[in-house]
Amino acid sequence: MAKELEFNLQLREPPKALPCVIVIFGATGDLTHRKLLPAIYNLSRDDLLNPSTVVVGFARRPKNDEIFRKEALESLQKFSRSKPVDMEVWNKLSPRIFYHQSSFEDAAGYAGLAKRLAEFDQQFGTGGRRMFYLSTSPTEFDQIIGQLGAAGLGNIDPFDRGAWRRIIVEKPFGRDLQTAQELNTSINRVFDESEVFRIDHYLGKQTVQNMLVFRFANGLFEPVWNRQYVEHVQITVGETLGVEGRGGYFETAGTLRDMVQNHLMQLLTLVAMEPPVALDADAIRDEKVKALRSIQPVTAQQVAAQTVRGQYGGGQFGGKPAEAYQREKGVAADSTVETFAAVKLFINNWRWQGVPFYLRSGKHMPRAVSEISVHFRGAPGVLFNAGGATVASNVLRLRVQPQEGFSLQVNAKKPDTVTRIAPAEMSFHYAGAFGSYSPEAYERLLLDAILGDSTLFIRRDEVERAWAIIDPIEKSWASGAPPLGTYAPGEWGPKAAHDLIGADGFKWDDFAPVNGHGQ
Ligand code: BG6
Repeated sequence: MAKELEFNLQLREPPKALPCVIVIFGATGDLTHRKLLPAIYNLSRDDLLNPSTVVVGFARRPKNDEIFRKEALESLQKFSRSKPVDMEVWNKLSPRIFYHQSSFEDAAGYAGLAKRLAEFDQQFGTGGRRMFYLSTSPTEFDQIIGQLGAAGLGNIDPFDRGAWRRIIVEKPFGRDLQTAQELNTSINRVFDESEVFRIDHYLGKQTVQNMLVFRFANGLFEPVWNRQYVEHVQITVGETLGVEGRGGYFETAGTLRDMVQNHLMQLLTLVAMEPPVALDADAIRDEKVKALRSIQPVTAQQVAAQTVRGQYGGGQFGGKPAEAYQREKGVAADSTVETFAAVKLFINNWRWQGVPFYLRSGKHMPRAVSEISVHFRGAPGVLFNAGGATVASNVLRLRVQPQEGFSLQVNAKKPDTVTRIAPAEMSFHYAGAFGSYSPEAYERLLLDAILGDSTLFIRRDEVERAWAIIDPIEKSWASGAPPLGTYAPGEWGPKAAHDLIGADGFKWDDFAPVNGHGQ
C-alpha cells in the first residue's frame, strides 16, 4: 500500500553531482570532524557524490595528507551516522583527501592552493569546480574571502564552461544587521550571489523540509491556515544541554542571536509564508522574505511585554549537579548573556494580522524538543461548548525532532455511558511510516550546494531581514529592559516566560520531561 502511495516528487531526474574540489577552511575544527567529513563519507557511501570528488582541508596546524586522513577516519568512526565505517568506501575516498597547511593571512598559502587546485583538475577531472567551505571562526571570514579574491579563486569568467566557484558560509552570519550587511558586501565582491550558500542547518532537517510538502501538497490545511481559523502559533526549540564548553562563543552571542535569529526565524517563515509561484530557490525565498518583511518590529515600548530573557543558574539536572551559566568556562562571572529567550511576534499581513506567534528557545530545558504547534480557534459556544463549558481546541503539532512527524489533536468521546470528551491525537511518525533512514542535515545541504540548488540556503536579503527583526530587541536588552530573569536547570525559562503567553490567556505547550532527564 505504501508503495502505491509513493510517488516521485522530483519532476525530473535529480541532477548528478559533477566532480569538484571541496576546500574546507578550518579543517582541524570541530564542525569539520563531527559533521562535514562524516557527511562527505556518507554521501560517498550512498553513491551521491561523484567518485572523483576531491576534499582539501585548509588550516594552520602543521600536518600532512597522511595524518589528516588518519584523523578523518577516526572522526568517521566516532561521528558517522552509519557505522562501522565501510572500509571499501573509505579506501576509495581517502586518496582524494588532502591537507593544505597555511595561515589564513598568508597570500602565498592561497597561491599554493590555486596551483594545487589546477593540478587536481588535470589529475581528477574536477573541471574548475570549487566549493569553498568557511568552517572557521567568523572573525576569519573577511580575511579568507579577500584572499580567495586576490588569488583569483573567486568569480570566474562566464565563458569558462562547466566551471564554478561556490562558497558555503557557516553561522553566525554577522551579529547584527550592520555586520551582516558588511559581510554580505565583502562576499559579493568576490562571489556572485547565485554562488553563495549561507547555511542554516535546520533547513537540512527532514521535517523542516516537509513543511512545504505538508502545506502545499495537501489541500486540507491551507484553507484554514490563516487568522480566521488560527488562534496562535507556538515554536519551541528546547535543549537539555547547557553551553557545553562553548561559553566563550556563547558570550558573544546569546540565545536570541544563536537560535532565534536563524533557526526559529526559519521555522516561522516556513509556517507563515504564502505559497510560492514555483518550487525553485528564488520563488521560495521570495515568499520567505515577504513573510519576514511583514513581521512587525518590536518597539522599545513593546519589548517588556513581548520578550523575555533568562539565564540558567546552578542546581540539579538529571540527577546531577549542574553549574550556573556564570560559572561555565569562558563566561564572565557577572555575565548578562541570555541562555533562554522568548518572543511574541505579529505578522502584519492579510493572512496573519492579529495572530500571535510565540517563540521560545533555551539551554538546560526539561526536554530536548523542537516543535511548531498551530492552535486553532475553538468550536462555537453552543452544544458541547455551551454554558461556559469548554472543550480543548484543535492543535496541529509539527515535530521537528526527536520522533519526527506530526499530530493533530481532536476531541473524541470517551467510551462511557455518559458523554465525556477527551482530546485524542492522530499521529504520524516518520520512522514508523517510512523507516528510519534519515540523512544528516549536512549531507543534504552539502549535496544541494554541489548541485547548485540554493533553495535550502539563506539569501542575502533574508539574513538581513531576520537581523532587522532581532536588532531592536537586542538594543533594548542591552539597555537593561526587560531585566534578565534566572531559571533553574530543568525549568522552561524564568517565570516571566509563562506570564508572556499567560497574559493573552494561553499556555505554553507542555512537554513532560522524559525519564526525568529530558532525553
Ligand atoms: C546551533 C547552535 O546552531 O544549533 C547551538 O549554535 C545549538 O547552540 C544547535 O546547540 C542546536 O542544533 P540541533 O540540530 O541540535 O537542534
